[in-house]
Amino acid sequence: MTARNKQLITEICTWYKTFGIDHIFNDLNSIPTKAETPVPKTQHILKRKTLDELIDKIHKIDCNLKNTARNTVISDGDPSSNVMIIGEAPGQEEDEQGKPFVGQSGQLLNNALKSVGLKRSDVYITNIVFWRPPGNRTPSLEETSLCMPYVIDHIMLINPKVLILLGSVAVQSVLQTKESISKLRGRTLEFYGIPVIPTFHPAYLLRSPTQKSLVFKDLIKAKKILDTVASY
Ligand code: URA
Repeated sequence: MTARNKQLITEICTWYKTFGIDHIFNDLNSIPTKAETPVPKTQHILKRKTLDELIDKIHKIDCNLKNTARNTVISDGDPSSNVMIIGEAPGQEEDEQGKPFVGQSGQLLNNALKSVGLKRSDVYITNIVFWRPPGNRTPSLEETSLCMPYVIDHIMLINPKVLILLGSVAVQSVLQTKESISKLRGRTLEFYGIPVIPTFHPAYLLRSPTQKSLVFKDLIKAKKILDTVASY
């Protein structure tokens, strides 16, 4: 076992209780690790510049939701991460702070990531829709369709080694399917060659905590993909 592996398992053992999944802890020893391969600095600089341009374009989108939202909520985390996570749309706290997943769902997401040894700052988080729909209603097809070209550019730019889609809106928008998340989760799908792990949205887990173990399994699967294709 490598030092990294040892450290990972120790961290996971400390965190798993926070996420309330201590009953399904058989899988951890099978998490492989790989040596780090540094990415050339110029690549990061170019990505940052193009990302800034995309963010600028997103701020200029004309959308009805902007009339009721306080902020345009675009992303949080590390743009050079190999893990990209996409949720649905900002809620009240996200709208207030201008950052995705900072409310209750965000706390749960942070704990879920911790349970597989990932820090929130290690991943890149965004949403399908960049403004809070009034009353946290589900975004309409018109609203998601308006944002999708930017979401696709966003995915291509970040070019993650694994894409985690949280909930039906994210899965249906990115993969252009009508299948529900309950039908799709558990499978590894693909978006232009990028492995996609569909899983339940943290807001659903807040209502149905017994489903946490399934999300844990999905995240373990994402972690294994990461470990086989790249260092992180
Ligand atoms: N739910 C989401 O889908 N995204 C957020 O940013 C917050 C809650």
